[in-house]
Amino acid sequence: MKRVDDFRLKLGNKELVPIVIGGMGVDISTAELALEAARLGGVGHISDAMVKTVADRRFNTKFVKEKLKHYKFNVANTDKSVVQFDLGQLAEATRMHVGKTMEAKRGDGMILVNCMEKLTMNAPKETLRVRMRAALDAGIDGITLAAGLHLGSFALIEDHPRFRDAKLGIIVSSLRALQLFLRKTARSNRLPDYVVIEGPLAGGHLGFGMDWAAYDLATIVAEIRQFMITEHLDIPLIPAGGIFTGSDAAAYLENGAAAVQVATRFTVASECGLPEDVQQEYFKASEDEIEVNQISPTGYPMRMLRKSPAIGDGIRPNCEAYGYLLDAHGSCSYITAYNREVAENPGVKRISVQDKTCLCTQMRNFDLWTCGHYTYRLKDTTRKLEDGSYQLLSAEHIFHDYQFSTDNKIALPE
Ligand SMILES: Cc1cc2nc3c(=O)[nH]c(=O)nc-3n(C[C@H](O)[C@H](O)[C@H](O)COP(=O)(O)O)c2cc1C
Repeated sequence: MKRVDDFRLKLGNKELVPIVIGGMGVDISTAELALEAARLGGVGHISDAMVKTVADRRFNTKFVKEKLKHYKFNVANTDKSVVQFDLGQLAEATRMHVGKTMEAKRGDGMILVNCMEKLTMNAPKETLRVRMRAALDAGIDGITLAAGLHLGSFALIEDHPRFRDAKLGIIVSSLRALQLFLRKTARSNRLPDYVVIEGPLAGGHLGFGMDWAAYDLATIVAEIRQFMITEHLDIPLIPAGGIFTGSDAAAYLENGAAAVQVATRFTVASECGLPEDVQQEYFKASEDEIEVNQISPTGYPMRMLRKSPAIGDGIRPNCEAYGYLLDAHGSCSYITAYNREVAENPGVKRISVQDKTCLCTQMRNFDLWTCGHYTYRLKDTTRKLEDGSYQLLSAEHIFHDYQFSTDNKIALPE
């Protein structure tokens, strides 16, 4: 049986270990994690989700404080339409996050940025344009278009000098989404350099409805592969979602995939951004403690640990500081849900909101524990210590386990 290391991912003139660590916002896939993937010859992702918060944390800047100060007058107002991002500051934060990461890059791998369209930021087109262009300016190897159909995204950067040299890819969960994207972007005369096909077992938001369990990654990959052959398109396909062992990965590569994108195994790496007590929750989780629900205001179902403190929390919306999910009219379904509860519970100090969550605040505080379906298997990837906790792993250990393991084996740490 073959192993992952028998294959290489060709992207432009680069030959890479065909392991892509997926983007995990907000700063769960840290620069440190992405840098390890690149050092080991694979592909790492940073994410530009809540980039001002991430820049403040990494570089001690005061982007969030300044935005809050500017809009403080609006905190008690239910109408958030005045809360806009300063595009100059957004570009600056992105350039810092991306630029400092690229400066630190070693090795032959690549670093991409995960760019989610669903971060509509009260001005969807303008903010997405700035985010992508600033990342290109700062030397990112490429952009992975995520969480959305991205029908207009290529057009926002097609006059950028790096439009044809940077690697551009998209995440889709169906052939139909890919066909729509290809049709809409045909006039830019540029195909995506890779397509990530994300199935229903992935972490984060899902590109499926609540009937996600009716779908299966291998079937979607086969459909898209057949379409590529029929259309004479030669674009690397990268399956993602539930690829837990090196053998799972090798099986996809043997069936024509160019690489695999993985994330859940790396949530328990010491380079991952999750606080260690949260990582222990991931280790401890059993299968029935993982759920897919609809509390994300994006409208997409999201997978998470049932114990996440975010679930049911009724914090006041923090759009003046964050506001990444405000739509083009300054609305967010959490604000609506929160206001409803406040109106129905007069005088109650700490209300609970069950149907939606303040995703910005909860992700910022690592209180929404999004995870992949196989999180309950993480305990089998390490050793239990005498105090009952689990040993964190190095990203290198996990990466090499994917790269070299065979027979569905998982190497335990020293
Ligand atoms: C904790 C976590 C956070 C994630 N956040 C994002 C994200 O912000 N954007 C995105 O496109 N995908 C996100 N994903 C999906 C991953 O990038 C990846 O495609 C998927 O989880 C791979 O499946 P696996 O976790 O079973 O290996 C996230 C996954 C996890 C586990």
